[in-house]
Amino acid sequence: MNGTRKTNKSGKLVIMSLIGVFIVLLVGRQFLLDQTTEIDPPAPSHFPNRFDRDRATVQRASLGKMLFHDPLLSLHQQISCASCHQQAAAYADPGKSTSTGDLSVKTERNSPTLVNLAWKKQFFADGRATKLEETIENAVLDPKELNSDFDCIIIPRIRKNSLYSQKFRRLFGNRTIHKDDIILVLTDYLRTLNSFHAKYDEVMQGRAQFTTQEKEGLEIFTAACQSCHVPPLFHSQGLIASCRSGNQDINALVAPTLRNIEFTSPYGYTGAYPRLDSLLIVHEIQWAGSSYPRTVKEVAALKAFLYTLSDHSFTSNTAY
Ligand code: HEC
Ligand code: HEC
Repeated sequence: MNGTRKTNKSGKLVIMSLIGVFIVLLVGRQFLLDQTTEIDPPAPSHFPNRFDRDRATVQRASLGKMLFHDPLLSLHQQISCASCHQQAAAYADPGKSTSTGDLSVKTERNSPTLVNLAWKKQFFADGRATKLEETIENAVLDPKELNSDFDCIIIPRIRKNSLYSQKFRRLFGNRTIHKDDIILVLTDYLRTLNSFHAKYDEVMQGRAQFTTQEKEGLEIFTAACQSCHVPPLFHSQGLIASCRSGNQDINALVAPTLRNIEFTSPYGYTGAYPRLDSLLIVHEIQWAGSSYPRTVKEVAALKAFLYTLSDHSFTSNTAY
């Protein structure tokens, strides 16, 4: 009698453990298969709504991050997106007025910071792209950048690479890898490059205060700069012409963001100014129709204010 009861008990225990293991496996499988953990950039309340409303997922963004740093995308496999867009320089190319693409060909413009892109309406200095996806195609195909091709170069390389093929299969199933899949994962990575932990943001949220000099800089900025570099993103939504001749806009450009300007020297869209001071002294003469250069004291105050837009967590964090 006693023996049967014991057997019954241990039988139950075995069944319970099996059920337990089964549940753990099921949850684990679900977790592994879940490719839709969305990242919603937790922007602070002083930020407006984004233009790009598509949500990135953690899984796509982390694959995009790997590709962003991989020379596999370029024709001669020497450079990656990150060669020209380095995190420590807020994703600009530090110290280079123009950058070096595939086969050491030089770009025509200075590599810009990549930040808060979901809040931009137009991309590139001349605003020629209106969707984030177009910026990826541009970088891949441009002979002065990656000098590459999706169907003939990148996709065959990804297929031969077992780690990448496995990752693409997990995200998109067993079908053949498509150009749009690569654009999607890279775009999702770009969607995660958001910066709003600067002193300026702390002040906007009532958690810090500007110094006297920063306040002076803010006053000049409000009067002379914010019509084009619109807070809190500090870029312009449309094109701005430096001059109008007849009914033609001359040299129409997007005003770039001033966030993290401390890290992105040299300055100007061709990188002509190694130091911020030299650009600021003459900048409004070129762009805002002013007839006087800024004084040294005004430039110092402006610079102090602009440095409150530096976000050290952005240049060092390792999310995704
Ligand atoms: C050889 C250097 C180089 C490489 C490699 C490169 N870029 Fe760029 N990138 C630039 C330059 C230069 C510009 C500015 C072009 C212009 O304004 O016409 C730019 C502009 C951009 C912009 C527009 C930013 C804005 O605010 O308008 C994005 C986004 C971007 N690149 C993403 C990428 C991605 C993603 C890759 C890799 C797939 C990449 N870049 C590879 C040099 C590079
Ligand atoms: C009429 C519009 C306009 C006004 C006003 C204006 N800017 Fe600009 N700013 C631009 C444009 C367009 C560019 C890009 C072209 C260039 O670099 O020359 C630019 C570029 C810059 C850059 C270089 C950014 C980089 O990443 O290289 C800085 C810094 C800057 N502006 C600061 C200021 C400050 C400070 C003021 C006010 C004193 C100001 N701007 C007023 C339109 C404007």
